[in-house]
Amino acid sequence: METQAAAHIVEERHTAELAALLEVSKTMVSSFDLDRNLRRALRVLADMLGLHRGTVTLVEPETRGLRIAAAHGLTRHEVARGTYRAGEGVVGRVVASGDAVVVPNIGEEPLFLNRTGARPEKSDISFIAVPIRLRGEVLGALAADRVFDEAVSLEEDVRVLEIVASIFAHAVRLYRTYRHEIDAKENLSRELRRRFSLPNIIGDSDAMQEVFRLVGKVAASNATVLLRGESGTGKELIAHALHYQGLRPKGPFVAINCAALPENLLEAELFGYERGAFTGAVASKQGRFELARGGTIFLDEVGDVSPALQAKLLRVLQERTFERLGGVKTLTTDARIVSATNRDLEAMVASGDFREDLYWRLNVVPVFLPPLRERREDLPLLLDFFLGRFAADLGRPVRFSPDALRLLMRYPWPGNIRELENTVQRLVVLAEGAQIDASDLPPHILLHDAPDVPNGSMTLDEEVEALERRRILEAMRRNAHVQARAARELGITPRQLGYKLEKYDLER
Ligand SMILES: Nc1ncnc2c1ncn2[C@@H]1O[C@H](COP(=O)(O)OP(=O)(O)OP(=O)(O)O)[C@@H](O)[C@H]1O
Ligand SMILES: [Mg+2]
Repeated sequence: METQAAAHIVEERHTAELAALLEVSKTMVSSFDLDRNLRRALRVLADMLGLHRGTVTLVEPETRGLRIAAAHGLTRHEVARGTYRAGEGVVGRVVASGDAVVVPNIGEEPLFLNRTGARPEKSDISFIAVPIRLRGEVLGALAADRVFDEAVSLEEDVRVLEIVASIFAHAVRLYRTYRHEIDAKENLSRELRRRFSLPNIIGDSDAMQEVFRLVGKVAASNATVLLRGESGTGKELIAHALHYQGLRPKGPFVAINCAALPENLLEAELFGYERGAFTGAVASKQGRFELARGGTIFLDEVGDVSPALQAKLLRVLQERTFERLGGVKTLTTDARIVSATNRDLEAMVASGDFREDLYWRLNVVPVFLPPLRERREDLPLLLDFFLGRFAADLGRPVRFSPDALRLLMRYPWPGNIRELENTVQRLVVLAEGAQIDASDLPPHILLHDAPDVPNGSMTLDEEVEALERRRILEAMRRNAHVQARAARELGITPRQLGYKLEKYDLER
């Protein structure tokens, strides 16, 4: 009987391990920010396997010093204190020797330096540290605590952590190669790098992961890319990424918005002109296709190009040749062509508004950017990302109240990431204290009662609360925020109203 129960525990454990390993490997490709992926992977180990206080310590390639790259369950302060040098402490020993270390009871281990000061003096905690190793080279160590437990063998934990460490090793190697390439792009200004390198493109959803995978693949080629997606979904951002992660990041990135200019001006901009080509052409000028030589040209809103210009574009795409307006010399361009549109190009082709041959030339690699409402799981990340960015600009911490966050999560964001970014910026700038409350949100978000949410996705309580919140807000507005009057309109006592205002975080 007992052995059966034990076998059952082992089996459950194995299932959990497999699930956790799968989750960890997914996590490691969830963004281009290595430390963040590591942090999330450690959270998975804690949540799914009870391996708490995980840390990943990496050998810094330049200094050979050790740095805690990610930690779960340690405060920032604790992390900052935990810089070891090789040979020091258990983690140092693991890195120096390349062998795993298991400390069954950390209270009794003199080597255990407890640099981070995070654990209580004496405890029933075991500590496991395994090397992160790739082809003989020790890149760092993965360590975690396990609360002493008869049922789970430490050997088993070591085995799992070793597998995780090998997943980490590959990720670290990959990331370093990629970092190296970025660092090589010295002519990029810091600002550009901050804004457009992939670490600043957020998206955990499967749909965005697919986009990143595709972008990573095509960036390394010179293939023509057509970016599709609603307004504000990140087409321009991805166009930049394609360029800066591409083969010629040092070359120019030249963008032109085809919807912003009338036809003749657009033509002059794209192809350039010779002196006297038209009234006002007092000097000759290079066009964008010339300027983009050795780099990328980004044709934004390409669906808005007129039929006559479509024919000229087609020629550039087919032969890479063109002439300046009023010019006789045939010029060439080797620019990579990335275009974008939020129009339904297929319908335009069908109706004869967009040339089919041009469509196929532009559409060599289509990349679809999904609207935010189809990847709501990215919302928390994005909200957090922009909150962090704008709060940092402001130089003080700001957070969302749980109620505010809930409403922001429920809103459908028709303007996609641009709307979300602008909204968060506004909220942060206008925030008076350290917290953004529900009452700080603009009315369209506050009053949005999730009609888009399919029936049955809210519990009855949630639906009742949404209705109540809405009624109260409207009454307060109509009555210029005089509670007594609003209460009368709602047919409740001022006391009841006061209670509800507090409950819904609607007090000013
Ligand atoms: N995945 C993302 N992570 C972080 N920021 C993003 C992401 N996608 C878009 N943004 C930001 O959202 C804003 C809008 O993105 P962008 O200008 O690229 O959209 P767009 O698709 O070109 O929109 P439009 O069709 O209206 O021109 C930008 O400030 C951009 O930096
Ligand atoms: Mg755009």
